[in-house]
Order: sequence, then structure tokens, then C-alpha cells
Amino acid sequence: MSSNVRITLHPTFEVLAATTAARLITRLLDVQSERGEATLVLTGGSVGIATLRAVAQSPAHLAVDWAKVNFWFGDDRFVPADSPDRNCGQAAEALLDHIRVDPARVHTMAASDTVDRLDEAVAQYAAELASAARAEWENDDASPAEAPPFPRFDVLLLGLGPDAHVASLFPEMAGIRAKGVPVVGVQNSPKPPPLRVSLTLETINSAQEIWIVAAGADKAAAVGLGLAGANEVQVPASGARGRNKTMWLLDQAAAAKVPAALMRGDS
Ligand code: 6PG
Repeated sequence: MSSNVRITLHPTFEVLAATTAARLITRLLDVQSERGEATLVLTGGSVGIATLRAVAQSPAHLAVDWAKVNFWFGDDRFVPADSPDRNCGQAAEALLDHIRVDPARVHTMAASDTVDRLDEAVAQYAAELASAARAEWENDDASPAEAPPFPRFDVLLLGLGPDAHVASLFPEMAGIRAKGVPVVGVQNSPKPPPLRVSLTLETINSAQEIWIVAAGADKAAAVGLGLAGANEVQVPASGARGRNKTMWLLDQAAAAKVPAALMRGDS
């Protein structure tokens, strides 16, 4: 296993969410002290949203300058803006409505009643990512020859499906195979609802740190395969690799199929 992959176990779902929240608050504070602002990519799913709720409930969240945090989404469902299925709506209810964010720094994916077609939502998010990347690039003397298609992500959260999907990149489907594009549309998601917008693996892997959060026995097989280095087209989670660090934050049940050697960091 690559040296920058870390696995951390937690006794229960609740402890996993609370600990990930504490870890996230600390990481945002550290990044803000270095860079003045921080960028976080949120995920849908039970653990991802529970983590946001735990952030809101932690007194330590008051130490973060939330007006200087840029929020993006790894994926969202292409449903009406007021649908309870919207990841951004769930994130708002769990955290964003309870902190002083700068609305200009909260980047949500278009809903099905704000644009006519899924490919418009995809193009709109890609353009928003590119615009943010250009703004960073223009302000950074050490920038590469040209602006990348996405801004710097300090922490990117990913939930994990039982089939080892991450974001809305599902095994064997077009999204996990996409190359050279930052965002894709998903027409027939195996996990309802069927229409979604998702970052591609290339965009996900541009993040400084990727935190994969998973809980429950139904995720154990996906975790085991994801950590075993399986092919990313069959096991999308195995393709998730942060530039500096990839953390698998698991409860005991989800870690049931992780080889002991990996837990010890032997390989
Ligand atoms: C989504 C999520 C998806 C989710 C996983 C895990 O929009 O559905 O982004 O990737 O994180 O399916 O979800 P659960 O933790 O609820 O199983």
C-alpha cells in the first residue's frame, strides 16, 4: 500500500462522525493559518452528512473562519433544488445554514429546475471550477504554465457505496472511465436518483487530501477491495488517491475485511 494511505478505525458510526468532524476542524484551522483560506469538497451519504452535523455540534467549529472556506461538492443529484435528495440541501441543513459562510464561496451543482438539461449542469460546474482555478492561478506567482481546470482542494470527502462507488462514479460505468474532463453527468445511477452530476476521478485526485469515510458491514467488501489495489473501473474507490494523503476513516464493521497487515501499515 502506498505510504501516504492511512487507515483509522472507530468503534461506532457516531464516533467515526465525531472524530472525522474534529479532524476536519483541525485541518481547516491548520490550512487557514498557512493560507488564509481553505477549500473543502463535501460528499453526500450517511457518514458525510453526519460528519457535517457533528462539525456544527462541536464548540471547536467556532474557531474556523467559515467565511474564508470554499465549499465544493463531489457530486449531487440532478433533482429539483428543494428536493430532500439534494446533497447540498442536506449539507446546508447539517452545517452550512448554521455557520457564517460567504455565499460566493459555496459552489453547488445545478438542480433540475434551474437548468433544462443535465449536460448544462455539467458544463456549468466545469466552468465554475475553471473560473476559481484561474483566479487562484492569477494570484499565485509560483503557478504552473497555465491554470488547471480545477482549484486547489485541501480536503475532499468521499462516502463509499457497497459497490465501492465514490461520488457518483460507479463500477464499469462511463463516469469512472472519463478522462480529460473535470465533471461528468450520470444518466442511470444504480443508486437512486438516476440523474447526477459528479467530479471525475482526475478532479478528485487533484485534492491534497482525500478522506474516504465508511461505516457498516455492507461496506466491508468495498473497503477490502478498495484497499487491495483493485482496478479502479471495477472498484472506483481504489482509484482515489490524494496528492499528499489518502485516509480511510472507518468504523469497525466496515473494516472487517481489511487485512491485518494493512492495519499495521506493513506494506
Ligand atoms: C451520493 C453520495 C454517494 C455516497 C455513498 C455512500 O450522492 O449518494 O455522494 O457517493 O457518499 O453512496 O452513501 P451512504 O453512506 O449513505 O451509504
